[in-house]
Amino acid sequence: MDYAALERRHPAYGRFAARLGNTPLTEVPGPDGGATVLAKCEWENPVGSIKDRVAYALLGSALHRHGDRPLEELRVLEYSGGNLAKALSHLCAELGVTARFVLSSASPRSLLDVLAERGAQVDLVDKERGFLDVVRTALDIAAADSGWTLLYQHRNTANLLLQERTTGAEIVRQLGELPGVPRADAWVASIGTGGTLVGVLRALRGAFPGVRAVGVTPEELPYGSDRPPNGLPKYGGSGGMGHGIRQPFVTLHDDEIEHRTVSYPRALEGMAEFHDLTGVRIGSSAAANWLTARAVAATLPPSATVVTVLPDAGTPEEWERIGRGE
Ligand SMILES: Cc1ncc(COP(=O)(O)O)c(C=O)c1O
Repeated sequence: MDYAALERRHPAYGRFAARLGNTPLTEVPGPDGGATVLAKCEWENPVGSIKDRVAYALLGSALHRHGDRPLEELRVLEYSGGNLAKALSHLCAELGVTARFVLSSASPRSLLDVLAERGAQVDLVDKERGFLDVVRTALDIAAADSGWTLLYQHRNTANLLLQERTTGAEIVRQLGELPGVPRADAWVASIGTGGTLVGVLRALRGAFPGVRAVGVTPEELPYGSDRPPNGLPKYGGSGGMGHGIRQPFVTLHDDEIEHRTVSYPRALEGMAEFHDLTGVRIGSSAAANWLTARAVAATLPPSATVVTVLPDAGTPEEWERIGRGE
């Protein structure tokens, strides 16, 4: 896809792109005597999460298909765990594109307020039905009315390719710039769609063929779990689908990926611990990634490097929950 042409045609899209990505890759606390842990700080993106990159990619694919028709005629539909809806609603408001989101009824008030401010339409699905039904509801809406353009983050390859070409390529370049860090030995990332895990893995494999890949999902519904979906609280933006369903991007590399789980209470503890150690606020999926990366690093020698990603800085509700609201 020719993103540069889209940016020229839609100046607001270009302005968003100019502020996107090139986030810092920073050393974070690791285990005593183990490998170094480096993390990509994704809250530095314009709307505050790694999903800003995905919003740019998915909307780009819709703009491309829409061609020369007026933007007022483009109506995009997507389901989201939160961050993608936040990023897309911003981008769509800037471009004058109508946006509609299917979300779980467990979505935080802060997100619903932002979406309302930006004029986005919202459909809530009962949280007890799990994320799988959030996805299904969006598919049903798109099937019933072809006027909606479903972006479909779990299957839209623009998601995967952009993660490879931006987040992954940036990490390879940034590792090369660090003194004494010749390679990545392991890559740890939480799985929502798996776009981050697999996209970045592909970029890292090109530079460091022996890199290990570790996917992280909530203990309450791990990757590929045969259990039915559930409404249990889980750390942010991630999770298995239930009923044995596996995320399509991850299945492309199933035999190469190790899986770990982190419970919601443990992820919240991780947010507090990281905050105590560094003074920096990271979200619950970032904490799950950091805890897992640190555990992997503890099994490796000090000369090794584990790379992970900190997808966002957490929601106000998550910080309230651990008694550290602002
Ligand atoms: C906070 C957070 N962490 C992790 C992820 C997982 O990202 P991916 O969909 O690339 O697997 C998301 C995706 O929405 C997210 O919002």
